Amino acid sequence: MKTLAILSRKGGVGKTLISLHLSVASQASGIETALIDLDPQASATGWAEDRENDEPFVLPVHGARLSKTLTQLREQGAQLAIIDTAPNSEGSSLMAARAADLVLIPCQPAILDLKAIRNTVDIAKLAKVKAYAVLNRVPPKGSIIEDSKEAIAQYDLEVCPKMIGQRVAYSYSLISGMTAQEYEPNGQAAKEFSQFYKWVENKLS
Ligand SMILES: Nc1ncnc2c1ncn2[C@@H]1O[C@H](COP(=O)(O)OP(=O)(O)O)[C@@H](O)[C@H]1O
Ligand SMILES: [Mg+2]
Repeated sequence: MKTLAILSRKGGVGKTLISLHLSVASQASGIETALIDLDPQASATGWAEDRENDEPFVLPVHGARLSKTLTQLREQGAQLAIIDTAPNSEGSSLMAARAADLVLIPCQPAILDLKAIRNTVDIAKLAKVKAYAVLNRVPPKGSIIEDSKEAIAQYDLEVCPKMIGQRVAYSYSLISGMTAQEYEPNGQAAKEFSQFYKWVENKLS
């Protein structure tokens, strides 16, 4: 079983949205996927409650039980565990990073967000796990994209070459317990996310 942690000490950057979309993409490609919701706010768990489909398997977990939960999931045949984390808990973020084969750090292309990633980068470094920044809510064009990549490089962090745009299909689909791939399979969000998913799958293999 591979483990992927979605990490950021900043709230509202897209951790949950990306975790959910990755979980659905992975399950749809035939990989038994479990989404571990480490955030006490339980947004991912709430999404699963609104969902008609039982897959992917979403379970709320307390940080202290993470390691045991991962062992159990592995024994039950899960092939990928995706951990959605809370912004305000350094302890559980570090546990998630230590358990992970790969860490993704969602980041909005805005100066305050970019400054806030240092904390998260430090956690990934402490855990000695490969991490990439993922630019999320990217506008259709503008110099902010190149500026953001340069700013991220200063943290000695690589940037995922596939970016996620600011699109209503992402947020709207979640309201009804779906994701953009399901809500609008031929839309731009679904297309771009599938490129991003392929990149993640490749990094995990
Ligand atoms: N790429 C995107 N396009 C449109 N809305 C987005 C995008 N990414 C995140 N959002 C919205 O931004 C808000 C915060 O995202 P969320 O995943 O809950 O962040 P976090 O889990 O990091 O706190 C949510 O309302 C979500 O639907
Ligand atoms: Mg969240």
